Amino acid sequence: MPEIKNGIQESIAAGEDKVVIGTDTFIPLITEEEIQKRTRELGKQISLDYASKTPVFIGVLNGAFLFLSDLIKNVSVDCEVDFFKLSSYGDEKISSGRVTMLKELNCDITGRDIIIVEDIVDSGLSMKFIEDLIEPHKPASMRIASLLIKPDSLKYNVKIDYIGFNVPSKFVIGYGLDYAQKYRNLRSIYVLSE
Ligand code: IMP
Ligand code: MG
Repeated sequence: MPEIKNGIQESIAAGEDKVVIGTDTFIPLITEEEIQKRTRELGKQISLDYASKTPVFIGVLNGAFLFLSDLIKNVSVDCEVDFFKLSSYGDEKISSGRVTMLKELNCDITGRDIIIVEDIVDSGLSMKFIEDLIEPHKPASMRIASLLIKPDSLKYNVKIDYIGFNVPSKFVIGYGLDYAQKYRNLRSIYVLSE
């Protein structure tokens, strides 16, 4: 396998089936096609569930930006979009266990039907933090959509209403998910291989 010199995306385009970052090797977990197919299914389901409503999609930055944009392209009801920005991971592969708010919502969510959009739910700490933050604003309803969930890592009691895929409790990158802020631009999702 040739050494990756010209950037990850180019290596993938050249037909390589892994991403090598320093001493870490990531292998394919979920393909671009599988992500797009599942996103279409979730968009369809949300459109049915919110018929005659105007939900507000609230993306959790940075990771959820690609999933949110592909998801709402598959939603056929009127909707609005806003973003939160949280930080918890720093540049590590293991959560710091602390969540801080870096950007607040800009819209008024009182009485609105909101759908929180996450890239991945790991321990559930971030989602719990968001739920506690949203609740005092008294939305009409709140549901959660997450592209990925690591069911074996869940420590907090959070209900995810729309799940893309269950994944093993291993570090994953791509399609919005980063490692030290990089590799969000990969079209597929890759998992750290031991
Ligand atoms: P939680 O608060 O433990 O549920 O972690 C959720 C947040 O950590 C997500 O919003 C992600 O930004 C990040 N995260 C969790 N697991 C991974 C991973 O495997 N790769 C990249 N980011 C992750
Ligand atoms: Mg995130």
